[in-house]
Amino acid sequence: MKQNEFKRRRKLLMQQVGKGNIALIASASSRTRNRDVEYPFRQDSDFYYLTGFNEADSLAVFIPGREQGEYILFCREFDEQKALWEGAHAGLEGATKHYEADDSFPIDDLSDILPGMLENKAKVFYPMGRDSDLDHQLLEWINNIRKQSRNGISAPGELVSLEHVLHEMRLIKSPAELKLMRRAAEVSAKAHARAMQCCKPGMYEYQVEAEIVHEFMREGLRAVAYPSIVAGGQNACVLHYTENKDKLRKDDLLLIDAGVECDHYAADITRTFPVSGKFSEAQKALYQLVLDAQYAAIEQVRPGLPWNKAHDASVQVLTKGLVKLGLLKGRVPKLIKDEKYKQFYMHRIGHWLGMDVHDVGDYKVNDQWRVLEPGMVLTVEPGLYIPAECETVDEKWRGIGIRIEDDVLVTRDGHEILTGGVPKSIEDIELLMRESHAA
Ligand code: GLY
Ligand code: MN
Ligand code: MN
Repeated sequence: MKQNEFKRRRKLLMQQVGKGNIALIASASSRTRNRDVEYPFRQDSDFYYLTGFNEADSLAVFIPGREQGEYILFCREFDEQKALWEGAHAGLEGATKHYEADDSFPIDDLSDILPGMLENKAKVFYPMGRDSDLDHQLLEWINNIRKQSRNGISAPGELVSLEHVLHEMRLIKSPAELKLMRRAAEVSAKAHARAMQCCKPGMYEYQVEAEIVHEFMREGLRAVAYPSIVAGGQNACVLHYTENKDKLRKDDLLLIDAGVECDHYAADITRTFPVSGKFSEAQKALYQLVLDAQYAAIEQVRPGLPWNKAHDASVQVLTKGLVKLGLLKGRVPKLIKDEKYKQFYMHRIGHWLGMDVHDVGDYKVNDQWRVLEPGMVLTVEPGLYIPAECETVDEKWRGIGIRIEDDVLVTRDGHEILTGGVPKSIEDIELLMRESHAA
């Protein structure tokens, strides 16, 4: 992502924050995994969105109209020993030179410098409740300023949620963001196709996961957007199954929910396919039903339509189909009203997608479902999960879990599916698997 993009975002933020006010946001912290070992560092999405700065122990401050510079970055000072052991870091000079901060200060001096910046500001825009240490510190600083009121210094009187402003911005993706999302989607689709091509009965779920990760990394993308779900047979009925430890059986389906990040932007794809390469009749019937529900839902992704239309379309198709196949009994409108479908379809149709896999942005505005606008990206992911112990349905349906998930961009005149690079029709999946297994 070019610096210009971050600059544009900061400018927009400054306009929203307004003169006389201040906004602050802290970076993510590095986290210990176990003695001397850290989890891979992932920057806080909001912080990265505004700064492009990928280091821990940093804090960005925005003061619209400040004469000495509006954008201030607190970060770690350059340390030769640290550079030797852990690699490059920007230091104070890099923060201004490469990340275009107007001013930079050592993070260790935060308590000396930041309180002065809060003086005589009316509002503090701040992501409240995210970092309790900083929450406490901020209140302490504000209280200390209050004590100086007799010297004519005023303390901020209002704390405002920064997220509200920022998340509205993040919800609509710019061309630069869409470029990264397209790349994440393309590579994730390739990885799913590779999984279909490699999968054989007797493999372990984690071996298929390895093929997926291999494809991500081969393409230069190292961070998964979330832990991959590779769930054979009835494991697919556990919605967040990530153990990925079982052996794949030839008569089972395999559900894979996996996506990669490209420069902090996520893809999120699910495909379900037969381990053997050929669907059984029962699997085919349920699979086609989920696919029909997905097509019907995607049809409802258009500017001007409310967010819930796609969900409602999927409920309609799935309930009707479940009655037709005999898994539900009764009249469709009543079954929908009584939410009977929820025993087999217990989640909603999808979520916003962006820097976070479950991305930010309100789903309702003034208590009404949000209307879709060009530039929004969302997932469409209906599913059916028939528990193995479900005695109300014929035995042939039990233990089958199916989800089909694509990433969809709302365009000016409809939508664009970003993850179309991996097959999902029964014929296309069987063909790809047949060809690769014959080769
Ligand atoms: N991969 C998480 C989700 O589909 O929501
Ligand atoms: Mn999803
Ligand atoms: Mn998913």
